[in-house]
Amino acid sequence: MDNLEILDSLRALLAGKPDATSLLQEAVSLLQRERPHYHWVGIYLLQGTELVLGPYLGKPTSHTRIPLNQGICGAAASTAQTIIVDDVHADPRYLACSLETRSEIVVPIALRGQVLGEIDIDSDQPAAFTSDDRVLLQAVAALLAEQIGK
Ligand code: SME
Repeated sequence: MDNLEILDSLRALLAGKPDATSLLQEAVSLLQRERPHYHWVGIYLLQGTELVLGPYLGKPTSHTRIPLNQGICGAAASTAQTIIVDDVHADPRYLACSLETRSEIVVPIALRGQVLGEIDIDSDQPAAFTSDDRVLLQAVAALLAEQIGK
C-alpha cells in the first residue's frame, strides 16, 4: 500500500468507532505489515511524566516505562518533535531495545499542542527512515490523536 492507502485504511478503521486500544493495535499491525523495514513498532502513551508502552509488535522490550528525560522516546515527547536517528549506536540518548536495531524514528502523537503519546519504530537497517516515513507516520499520529484525545 502507498501512504495514502494506509491512511485510508486507518480512516476506515476509525469509522467503525473502535475503542482506543483496538485502534492502536490495528494501527501497529497495519504499519508493520505494510512496511517491511519497520521491525519493531510500538505506541507509548504519556501518563504523568512517563511514557508507558501500549500495543507493540516485535521483540519484547525492557523499556515499558520511559521517563520524559530519557531515551530518544523521551526526547521526542518532551520536545513534541519527530526524531529520526540513522545510527542508534552513535546517539548517546539511545536506550537499547534489541541488539539488531540500527535506526529509529519516534513521532509524537499530539492534539492541539498537547503530547498524548508517540509512535516508536525501530529498524534493523541503518538509516532506514526517510522523509516519506516521517510524512506517513505524522499523518497516522494525527489520526490517532483525534481518537486518543477524546
Ligand atoms: N530506543 C528507545 C527505547 C524504546 S525501544 O526502542 C522499544 C529510546 O531510545 O528511547
